[in-house]
This record gives sequence, C-alpha cells and structure tokens, in this order.
Amino acid sequence: MYDNREQIRFIDLFCGIGGFRIAFEESCQEVNIKAECVFSSDIDKFAQDSYEANFGERPYGDITQIDEKDIPDHDILFAGFPCQPFSIIGQMKGLNDTRGTLFFDIARIIKEKKPKAFVLENVKQLVGHDQGNTLKVIMKSLKELGYHVQYSVLNALDYGLPQKRERIVIVGHKEPIMFTFPEPIRPYKPLTEILEQSVDEKHYASEYIRSKREGSHKSSFYPSIWHENKSGNICSYPFSCALRAGASYNYLLVNGERRLTPREMFRLQGFPDSYKIVVSDGQAKKQAGNAVPVNMIKAVVQKLLPYVANSLDQATVLREYDLKYNPS
Ligand SMILES: C[S@@+](CC[C@H](N)C(=O)[O-])C[C@H]1O[C@@H](n2cnc3c(N)ncnc32)[C@H](O)[C@@H]1O
Repeated sequence: MYDNREQIRFIDLFCGIGGFRIAFEESCQEVNIKAECVFSSDIDKFAQDSYEANFGERPYGDITQIDEKDIPDHDILFAGFPCQPFSIIGQMKGLNDTRGTLFFDIARIIKEKKPKAFVLENVKQLVGHDQGNTLKVIMKSLKELGYHVQYSVLNALDYGLPQKRERIVIVGHKEPIMFTFPEPIRPYKPLTEILEQSVDEKHYASEYIRSKREGSHKSSFYPSIWHENKSGNICSYPFSCALRAGASYNYLLVNGERRLTPREMFRLQGFPDSYKIVVSDGQAKKQAGNAVPVNMIKAVVQKLLPYVANSLDQATVLREYDLKYNPS
C-alpha cells in the first residue's frame, strides 16, 4: 500500500458542488495518497456556498475571466462542463476555432498547464450532437494539445447507484498508457438505502396528482420511483431516472406519492451523508441535478490513479479496487 508521501494536485473546473472532488479525494484516500485541490471555479453563487461549506474554500467565479497562467500547476484536471455551449462547436475546425465556448476555456488551461491527465464529463447527447461533429471537434482539439484521448458513455446505474444517468466521460493522458474505462459493477444500491424513513409533509404531491398517478399506473416494485416522461407517460423502476436540474415538480415521485428529499437526491448521486446541504430545497434539487455521480467517476479515476501517482503500480490499485467493489 502507498505510504502517503506523494501528493497529487488537481483542479476542479465547473466544480458545482464538488462531485469530482469527492470522487478523487475518496479514491486517493483509499490507497493512502494525498490529494490536494489547488484551484476550483464555478460561476454560481449557491454552488459556491455549498462548496465552501463542505470543502472550506470558495471557488473562483467565471472561468472565462481567469488567465490560465494564474492557475497553479496540477497533475490532473477535472471538468464537468455545462452542456449548453457545445451547440456551436460542431461547425468549428479545431482548437483555436472553439474560442468563445466554455470548452475552449478548458482547452486553453490544458494547453498552458499540461496536466498529466484530465477527465471531462458531459451529457450523453454530446455523442450524437450535430451528427457527431461536435464531439469530433472536441476530440481533435484535445489531441492537438498532445493528449491520448478516449471517451465512453457510462451509466451511474452500472457503478453502484440506483440512478439511470448516462454521461459521456472523456479521459486524456499525456503518456501512451493502457487506460481502459472501468467494467460495470453490479448490483446497484437498493432504494431502501437511499430513501429516508421520515419525510416532511411538504415533499408530498397534492391529492390530485397522487390519485391521478394511482389511476394511471401500477408499479411492479416497492419501493419504486415513478417517472413521468415528456409525453406524460408514467413508468416506475426500483431505481431513479436521471435527476435533472430544471425538471418539473412531479417529474420523479417516490412510490407515486412524494418528491425526493434533498438528502435522497444527494445520495442518488453518491454524495456521503456527511455532505452538508446548506441551500434551499430548490437549489439543492438544481445542484443534485447538475452534479456528476461520484461512484461513476471514482471507478474511472481509480483506473487513472496509477498513472497520475508515479509510484503507485496499477496492479495494486486494481487489486484494492476489486477487493472493495467486486469481492468474489
Ligand atoms: C454540469 S455542472 C457541473 C457540476 C459538477 N460536476 C458537480 O459535481 O456538481 C456545470 C457547472 O458549470 C458552472 N458554470 C457555468 N458557466 C460557468 C463559467 N463561465 N465559469 C465557471 N463556472 C461556470 C455552472 O454554474 C454549473 O455549476
């Protein structure tokens, strides 16, 4: 096992409430490596409040206003960048052409700081956006910076969380290492470990909504989370559909009768119960809906760690990882 002398420095861009940070710090802790966050940034005041309450530092604001030269050196860069700006990237030809998008801000930091590796995350729709052109430009731009880059669409459900949440994860590394994305880990946590026992009345849907749900759907599972799709159809599963920052009020209902509590939403994203929720219920829903699933990123990061931490051999990490997640 590693002896705590090595320290890995990382930066947390578009940090939100720190999903990447928890994943990385926990992964490092499990193999006795020190992880030091040397820079974080998020433009949203409430996300900054949550981050500060939990990590003791207030993230810097708008990344477009930060000179890459002012960012401290680091070994690994994390960024779950917002999905809205990629709508225009597909028409662009390469890195320099992506100026004005938030992806460009990630790229200019990578270009200046040359971390050993990076992990980027975005919605699955990035893969097919503009017939694949958007992702092509992103991958090409990252390769132009001298990185080996690969991507995969991962589902939080495959990494121990009862939430169907598919996300593209892009991993880049400077050296030609044998990185592969993690295999799925089943089974996922049962909902009984997510749901709270005693829930405030305010989370219950109106009598009208509840009887409407009851009349239109019978679930085969208990407990279950009922999901209303865009056309108003209801289905239910022993897991949650993807949490969404801007979802309508009754988009997900536990047993067809109540909304998820903030703590339950944070649990569905793999945040530990020690995570302090310091914002309103509305902000908590937005923050959970925007966050990256901690367990999914942990699985990725654990495969990258041996490379980022010089003195850690891959076999050790993978053995630790298997013992914990795939005990036979
Ligand atoms: C998809 S969320 C990332 C959430 C994060 N991975 C987590 O686990 O909480 C994208 C974040 O980018 C932030 N953001 C958007 N524009 C930004 C900008 N110009 N500078 C810094 N952060 C920005 C948003 O406030 C939001 O929190």
